[in-house]
Amino acid sequence: MAETLILPTSATRADTYKAIIPQIEAVLSIETDLIANLANVTAIIKEAFGFFWVGFYVVKENQLVLAPFQGTLACTRIPFHKGVCGACYTQGKTIIVPDVEQFDGHIACSSASKSEIVVPLFVNGKVVAVFDIDSDKLDDFSEIDKVSLEKITKMLEKFFFNY
Ligand code: SME
Repeated sequence: MAETLILPTSATRADTYKAIIPQIEAVLSIETDLIANLANVTAIIKEAFGFFWVGFYVVKENQLVLAPFQGTLACTRIPFHKGVCGACYTQGKTIIVPDVEQFDGHIACSSASKSEIVVPLFVNGKVVAVFDIDSDKLDDFSEIDKVSLEKITKMLEKFFFNY
């Protein structure tokens, strides 16, 4: 079983992604169940960075439905055209919101959330889920997060074989 990584306090965010990507690869190589794998990826990322909320919404019944996550209670269903998650779904691309209060239509599941990144997951060119991370710090996400999280979501797409 993969252990929690102990990283030096001086580790940069890029260093931390470098350390957790092989850990995620190892975890995904021994399990094919979608829910189990989504759950462990949220745990690894929450543990590594301490983000406020880390979780998935999957496409189901013509909307985005809450799936494995780590963090506080969250809204369970998001219409395709609502919020940052909806924008990620409709545009089919990663969205970084440096200040959620400036994003028209942002869905506030918690007032502690200040910035957000949402990454789409695809199967056969269609978005099947979005990976949403919320930070309690303003402007907490950059190109480093985008590139690394897109690598991680790519590793998960094959587990959506029933979609
Ligand atoms: N803020 C998201 C909703 C999901 S929660 O952050 C967990 C949005 O605007 O789509």
